[in-house]
Amino acid sequence: MCGIVGYVGPREAAPVLVDGLSRLEYRGYDSAGLAVLNGRGVETRKLAGRIDGLRELLVREPVHGSCGIGHTRWATHGAPTQRNAHPHADCAGSLALVHNGIIENADLLRAQLERAGHRFATETDTETLAHLIEEATGATLEERVLAALALVEGTYGVAVIAEDHPGTIVVARRGSPVLLGIGNREYLVASDASAVLPYTRSVVYLRDGDVAVVTAEGYRVLDEQQRVQRRSLNDIEWELDSLSLGEHSHFMLKEIHEQPETVRSTLRGRLLDEAGGARLNGLNLTAARCARIRRIEIVACGTSWHAGLVGRHIIEELAAIPVAVEYASEYRYRRPLRAPGTLTVAISQSGETADTLEALRAAKAAGSTVIGIVNVVGSTIARESDGGIYLHAGPEVGVASTKAFTSQLAALLLLGLYLGRHRGLRSDQGRALVEQLRALPELIERTLALESEVRALAECYADARNALYLGRGVNFPVALEGALKLKEISYIHAEGYPAAEMKHGPIALIDENMPVVCVAPTDHVYHKVVSNMQEVRARGGRIVAITSEGNGGLGRLVDHELRVPVCPPLLSPVLTVVPLQLLAYHIAVLRGCDVDRPRNLAKSVTVE
Ligand code: AGP
Repeated sequence: MCGIVGYVGPREAAPVLVDGLSRLEYRGYDSAGLAVLNGRGVETRKLAGRIDGLRELLVREPVHGSCGIGHTRWATHGAPTQRNAHPHADCAGSLALVHNGIIENADLLRAQLERAGHRFATETDTETLAHLIEEATGATLEERVLAALALVEGTYGVAVIAEDHPGTIVVARRGSPVLLGIGNREYLVASDASAVLPYTRSVVYLRDGDVAVVTAEGYRVLDEQQRVQRRSLNDIEWELDSLSLGEHSHFMLKEIHEQPETVRSTLRGRLLDEAGGARLNGLNLTAARCARIRRIEIVACGTSWHAGLVGRHIIEELAAIPVAVEYASEYRYRRPLRAPGTLTVAISQSGETADTLEALRAAKAAGSTVIGIVNVVGSTIARESDGGIYLHAGPEVGVASTKAFTSQLAALLLLGLYLGRHRGLRSDQGRALVEQLRALPELIERTLALESEVRALAECYADARNALYLGRGVNFPVALEGALKLKEISYIHAEGYPAAEMKHGPIALIDENMPVVCVAPTDHVYHKVVSNMQEVRARGGRIVAITSEGNGGLGRLVDHELRVPVCPPLLSPVLTVVPLQLLAYHIAVLRGCDVDRPRNLAKSVTVE
């Protein structure tokens, strides 16, 4: 997803902008650019391609000035070309702006502006905004920006500079995150905290409707009614080195190996050994409110939706509350039905996924209490929830979600324990689960020892064109997640299916060219999955089984076995997913794919 960086202060702006944009690369982009106020006007450098190309361009054609804005673009309107790269300008080139989001009435506005004589240079919706600001009246840049934005339908995170307002950046947000980095006599603007970390840990998250005016002397925030607002300062918790690869060749592999520590971090301080419960103060759910919950609906996208499917098993098992799991993008367009006693759980690593955010807002409008299970502190979903659970997994840089998934599962286990202990789960049962949760990081560590076997296995399947992933019960979502990992980073078509469903169609696909990955820990549905494996084997299919240590019962039924430590069924997805993450990773590496920045994908989908 697009990235925004702005700087104003004593330094040369260009190096700060390029450095900040490079920390946003993981979000996915296809072009990059920057604009600086050089004392005579606005000077822009931009290209279709990577940040390294922008660095080389700046060596050949340097720009000087201490106030500027930069952008990495993930194309939504208009091809990823140099022309369509941000920043965009007005007719006279007297202002420049960068924009995240989508201007939904851009075509109508563009037609009006062209009729008024404006000349457009690009195919983008963003350029419309530059000409709207040019056209707007107002004594100050912020007044003109506000007047222009009043005509806009859609979402934006935007930063603007203009030659007649030297040393000033005007920033606005509606539906696309923007924050201010508060340094020592220097100020930054960014769409993601990672861009400002080398300069400051103090950030101000703008809210929807806010406009900020940033100069080297300070900043002020105006709300939609143009009233000056004081927005709280937040401290970024995580370290800069969490944005470095360390000894790993990719962030995805680093984050897979971080999982024992990140699950430990999610659980830290939240397990009550004596009481056999969970401490989740951020939930803002009293015992009385827990008792009144009649149903839970989980809304999420992608990997987070898979975590929600596991969460259904967890919560129904531990708290006996019925749970519905909805694709956020589908949920938000359904007729909102008021259902008293509903608790809505929004799961999102980034806390900025547009579909999940809008589903959260729809649930609140229908009267539901909403909690967020989120990784990024201060993100929009976290701030708009009535309470929540932060993952504390540190920034997840790889586009393919891994450590966030297992931390989401840990958070859902904590939630199930918390709700359960308010709804009949006995203390001895709670204490047993607490003990099992404490043991989980060590079991993940043991599971990671499978990597050399998985790497060898990847050699056998790197040329596959399709794959089928099967699982039952709490491991059916793991089959979905394993398939998603493979397809999103290796571009092999892969489908996850409930194992029993294979008989209702997909079995027609089975032959020696269709590898079938079966998630089959020795739990209460294990023998049912074995029956499905026999059906696959009878049709010549090749089988990879993810099963439990000590299980010698598969024999020649399968072509490969990867055995994970034995653990209670509700916790098993935290382990069974790990070999599937590694398998997808090693296959993608063998296929020469860009593992951390897979084609067409973005880390946080902040557009609908
Ligand atoms: C997962 O590997 C993908 N990158 C994607 O499906 C992701 O899980 C989805 O976009 C949801 O993101 P979120 O958790 O930040 O809301």
